[in-house]
Amino acid sequence: MRELLGTHMDARETWATRIGFILAAVGSAVGLGNIWRFPFLTGESGGAAFLVVYLCLVLLIGIPVLLVEFVIGRRSNRNPIGAFDELNHSQWKIAGVVGAVAGFIILSYYSVVGGWAIQYMLAGLTDGYVAGEGAEAFFAETASGTGAIVFHAVFMTLVGGIVALGVRNGLEKAATVMVPSVVVLLVGLALYGSTLSGASEAYQYYLYPDTSTLLSDAISVLPAAAGQAFFTLSLGMGVMITYASYVGEDRSLLSDTGLIVGIDTAIAILAGLVVFPFLFTQGIAPGDGGPGSIFVSLAGAFAELPAGNLIGTVFFFMLLLAALSSAFSIFEVVVSFVIDRFDIERAPASVGLAVIIFILGIPTALDLTYLELYDMFANEILLILGGLLMSLFIGWVYADNALEEIQKGRSASWFGDFWLTAVRYFVPPVLLITLALAVVGYYEFLQSTFF
Ligand code: TRP
Repeated sequence: MRELLGTHMDARETWATRIGFILAAVGSAVGLGNIWRFPFLTGESGGAAFLVVYLCLVLLIGIPVLLVEFVIGRRSNRNPIGAFDELNHSQWKIAGVVGAVAGFIILSYYSVVGGWAIQYMLAGLTDGYVAGEGAEAFFAETASGTGAIVFHAVFMTLVGGIVALGVRNGLEKAATVMVPSVVVLLVGLALYGSTLSGASEAYQYYLYPDTSTLLSDAISVLPAAAGQAFFTLSLGMGVMITYASYVGEDRSLLSDTGLIVGIDTAIAILAGLVVFPFLFTQGIAPGDGGPGSIFVSLAGAFAELPAGNLIGTVFFFMLLLAALSSAFSIFEVVVSFVIDRFDIERAPASVGLAVIIFILGIPTALDLTYLELYDMFANEILLILGGLLMSLFIGWVYADNALEEIQKGRSASWFGDFWLTAVRYFVPPVLLITLALAVVGYYEFLQSTFF
């Protein structure tokens, strides 16, 4: 993590200001997960029931697990690879290994989708956006094939290059511009969407669950919703361990958590309020949008809006910034892991990994089925497993120290007890059930795809 904070590594300095830590964490959390993945998964999973389950999981599982990672990070002052050694429980490093593998897979297709964002940004400057069937055709062209591979390479080069040039700090500061801009653009688009003919049907679909089937729906969407809660909050991989390792002991981990989760969740909900009215108005069934949902629906909107090409370019530029700042956080974990494990220097490790990740992502840039295959495996299985291991460690192996750690810096003591109880008795069983359902679901998905 030397790169991340310049020379701070050796002195183990803490973030100079509260805002530094929040910005880094928000920069990691807010990304394609909120704006691209959340609306398309909601569409595929039936709408409002998914939203309800997702929100419950963010509150009841996401917040406790985020605090688990924060506690491990601040206690150990290390990145996820070194953390368990530092706490004298080396065998739990397996959680770090699971996380690194997850990061490796996630980044390989995350970069492909980042490449789509670049192509859409450029489209506003060149031919302009088109609505209707043209929008779907444009997405199909963008998403798979030579163009997709080329811009996947561009995105990976940006990730590797910016890390190598050490301008990452600058990019983190860009979050101060990026996050408010994304919010303003999404609010504006949501307001515009509310005037469209498909709006009321869309809100019905997205916001009003059918209470008579809610329970059975909830079980069927559990793995997808849990995977999304982890993905969007950057959990399960140890990203948040690293960031919290720079947090001072006088700070309340709890209030920072509230802010980070609040911003991240609000942006996802807003993205849904944008995507669904446009999809319904364009006559696309929400479940048919797939990974193209945000791209097709927005291209349609930008084609109709005055100055739409300009607004679109700005929007996709912001999306690109959001994606880059998230991609770094993943890349850092993977690079640190390889450096630690194979004793390679940072520069060759970064370049080599960027190349390997690029190659790994190529199938997903040729066929969206592979993208879903990678995505489901990494999120619904590996991230959940990583989170489960870390929660078991904190809840059952390291509980006393964890309790002491969380109570530093004005976190109310009742909350510490409440949190630890959840981490022991609630989080592991829920994650275990989720994991079992996910494995079954994944097996079925493989069968239906390949046999
Ligand atoms: N949270 C990011 C997003 O929503 C993606 C991401 C960054 C991530 N770091 C992560 C996902 C670590 C899982 C684990 O786009």
